[in-house]
Amino acid sequence: MIQIKTDEDIEAMREPARLAAEVLLMIEPYVKPGITTNRLNDLCHDYIVSHGAVPSPLNYRGFPKSICSSINEEICHGIPSERKLRNGDVINLDITTYMNGFHGDTSKTFFVGSPRKKISRLVETCQQSLQKAIDVVRPGARLGDIGATIQNLAEGRGYSVVREFCGHGIGRNFHEDPQVLHLGKFGEGVELKKGMVFTIEPMINEGEPGLKVLSDKWTAVTKDGSISAQFEHTLAVIQGGCEVLTRLDGQTSF
Ligand code: MF3
Ligand code: CO
Ligand code: CO
Repeated sequence: MIQIKTDEDIEAMREPARLAAEVLLMIEPYVKPGITTNRLNDLCHDYIVSHGAVPSPLNYRGFPKSICSSINEEICHGIPSERKLRNGDVINLDITTYMNGFHGDTSKTFFVGSPRKKISRLVETCQQSLQKAIDVVRPGARLGDIGATIQNLAEGRGYSVVREFCGHGIGRNFHEDPQVLHLGKFGEGVELKKGMVFTIEPMINEGEPGLKVLSDKWTAVTKDGSISAQFEHTLAVIQGGCEVLTRLDGQTSF
């Protein structure tokens, strides 16, 4: 069942969503060669807690850390560790915060040190696919329009879209209906209505779409070892369009 949010609910959701966006801004200067993902986790954890919120991933279905950190061929749900970032890595940091009784969820792929040209095209395509998908969200559009928009752009550039994980409704629960697939057909799927709040979070692989989950039971990696990128926003369907709750005012690039 898709829960429709009231204007008051959406107002309450702005705060955790904004905080999650601020965490990505705060952490960016630390994403440098030599830092461990545990240190990134701790900096994000402390920032979230000191702003009166709770990091939603911590203990969620047994997840042991406060953020997800997914490096290179890791698609999503990477667990922070003593691993050090290296020049040329790409890393997705996925931040979800809980406050006012609601969750806000956003993620971004960062370049560590100097970006490699081939990888930056992948990362840019992923970010563009999210933006193009956001642009189609309005009452009366369909979930398939979102998926088709992402799939067309990614596959048109020779990349593949991850099928096993999707965006999701979000609100009082971290993951709610509907499932927001990142592939599909225009005109198909659930019709969007004012008051729906969900994430769009495309995972785009440089190579084949297949994945496997590591023995830690969380980290999803590409089967072929190719690089994977991801971006995520939380958005609310409003009259005539959508509001990106995890976008800070004046922040144009992401
Ligand atoms: N933030 C992820 C998402 O976008 C979910 C992480 S679940 C966790 O849906 F347990 F790994 F944190
Ligand atoms: Co997320
Ligand atoms: Co999400």
